[in-house]
Amino acid sequence: MSRSNQLQFETRAIHAGQEPDPQTGAVVTPIVHATTFVQDGIGKNRGYVYARSGNPTRLTIERCLADLEGAEDAFVFPTGLSAATSVLAALDAGAHVVAHNDLYGGIYRLINDLMPRSNGHHVTQVDFTDPDAVAAAVTDKTALMWFETPSNPTLGIIDIAKITQIARDCGAMTVCDNTFASPYLQRPIEWGVDVVVHSATKFLSGHSDLMAGVAAVAAHAPEGVCERIGYMQNATGAVLSAMDSSLLLRSVKTLPVRMQRHCENAGRIAEHLLENQSAYGLSSVRYPGLPDNPGHAIAARQMSGFGAIITLRVNGGPERVEQILKRTDLFGFAVSLGGVESLIQHPASLTHKTVPAEKREAAGVSEDMIRLSVGIESADDLIADLQRAFHQG
Ligand SMILES: Cc1ncc(COP(=O)(O)O)c(C=O)c1O
Repeated sequence: MSRSNQLQFETRAIHAGQEPDPQTGAVVTPIVHATTFVQDGIGKNRGYVYARSGNPTRLTIERCLADLEGAEDAFVFPTGLSAATSVLAALDAGAHVVAHNDLYGGIYRLINDLMPRSNGHHVTQVDFTDPDAVAAAVTDKTALMWFETPSNPTLGIIDIAKITQIARDCGAMTVCDNTFASPYLQRPIEWGVDVVVHSATKFLSGHSDLMAGVAAVAAHAPEGVCERIGYMQNATGAVLSAMDSSLLLRSVKTLPVRMQRHCENAGRIAEHLLENQSAYGLSSVRYPGLPDNPGHAIAARQMSGFGAIITLRVNGGPERVEQILKRTDLFGFAVSLGGVESLIQHPASLTHKTVPAEKREAAGVSEDMIRLSVGIESADDLIADLQRAFHQG
């Protein structure tokens, strides 16, 4: 919608890309289940031909997400991994990719295994929290720099503006996985990123009941990138269904209020854990909002809140780690993150199992690490749950 630029994020989360239905006045975007659309003549249609190449419900959530990320265009996919696949497959065969060394395990597998085998990509992994290491990894074939910030699960904070400057200098495209922050807390395109990807399965959907992915492309992205990603979405058939597009559209309307509460709760819990670190038997508490956290100053500059994820390292060996995971009640022992309910998980054996052990250790994903996704329940109840689980036995 044209007035969108003047409106605040909270208003755009509810209205961007949406108008009351012109036929019925319905205030909520209708779910168009049709797979095909009648044609008015050869080469004459009303904007739609076949649902894989275009569907009105999907187009509405794509417009809304493009607006929220400050992108020119956005595409929605059935999962975060299918969004990432379409972005990576849009590169030429044989391209050189420089990737952060702490990535979600499934993205690690795509970049380091699948794409090199299917598309001949060459990959160099470095620590993106050290921009000099990124600059040193560049070759004359570097086409892409891929990172997530905050990263999963070590919560590394990457200076987005510095990385995009290095990429511009060598003519490479940048992709930022913005899953942990969501566009409410961080808009990488404003810091020069070309393409933002999401596992919309997480905060964007927010209720652990929907799988989806997003690729949002900046107006300043290299020429043809948007068309190539759109081509991949259609050519590989990786489209979000109309039903799931409607659910995602509904979820995004409450993103700002959910994120505010996630941040409030996680901030309180991180401070509580840090203040009582020895009583909890923790060797470290990582949360980007803690002033001593590495990258805190960068996070404070490029994010408007510090998110819902806390990463802990637990003393007492593997038995104690497992006991804690099994003892929490409100924090469900399950993978994933970003839902209204709190979760606890063990990255080394679950989300990052696909990363070879030596690479995992090098990136700081140790066996004693536990990751919390703090939900929007009462912070008092969540703290009581952690106290019970950590202090028993
Ligand atoms: C940071 C990040 N990116 C991408 C993905 C992949 O998304 P999906 O599980 O929706 O395919 C995940 C999944 O956990 C993730 O945490």
